[in-house]
Amino acid sequence: MKQKKIYPESGVELTPFISRNYDRILGTASLGLYPRAVKQAISDMDISHGDQILDLGCGTGLNTEFMAAHLNEQGSIHGLDISDEMARQFEKRFVNTQNITFQNQRVDIPFQLDRKFDKVFIGLVIHGFPHEVRLTVIRNAMNHLKPGGSFYILDFSEFDMNSIPFHHRAIFKAVECKYAFDFIQRDWKSILREQGFKEFRENFFLKKYMRLLQADI
Ligand SMILES: C[S@@+](CC[C@H](N)C(=O)[O-])C[C@H]1O[C@@H](n2cnc3c(N)ncnc32)[C@H](O)[C@@H]1O
Repeated sequence: MKQKKIYPESGVELTPFISRNYDRILGTASLGLYPRAVKQAISDMDISHGDQILDLGCGTGLNTEFMAAHLNEQGSIHGLDISDEMARQFEKRFVNTQNITFQNQRVDIPFQLDRKFDKVFIGLVIHGFPHEVRLTVIRNAMNHLKPGGSFYILDFSEFDMNSIPFHHRAIFKAVECKYAFDFIQRDWKSILREQGFKEFRENFFLKKYMRLLQADI
């Protein structure tokens, strides 16, 4: 059944069709470059075997699977998402994996889980929210980190639309929602610093249009 959008102009609340084919669409549209780059970015997260990881807006669980490859049975990943179709794919992917769990939970409103995590990850989700909502997402991440933990934002990097090649601009305009245009213009390290994060590390990929930004508390 079609779920009603929380933010009608957002591009990260996907239709059932896109959700069902999400991994295939991203893989094909990027000629396989996107999943390979993400896998590499995730391998730079320094995941320890026993890490407890929270994945906000986990989708089909593709990134979760890349992270899970670094864990042993003491490690765990808890994925949160609002989409029934994503839940179905995530649960199917991890059907025999006790330490990878899914919860239907909005990440754009304050929530409190009963435990804290070594790492909180959000991939291709936060750019699709209005800015004040993004601050709530960041506070949710902060509230769920153990002391010494890290928050990872895998998303667009910061760039000026007017200084990129015409064909890249045309693609971005064709596929992205209005919130993404705002996202790329903001100084994310300053925003995260204002929310209490202290140290940063960043890794760029896909011609520097994408970034994995690590923020430590
Ligand atoms: C573009 S997909 C990214 C999925 C996954 N993180 C990845 O990188 O493959 C955006 C995901 O965010 C989820 N989402 C959108 N709004 C959400 C919200 N308010 N709370 C939780 N999940 C949300 C969608 O259902 C979708 O699975």
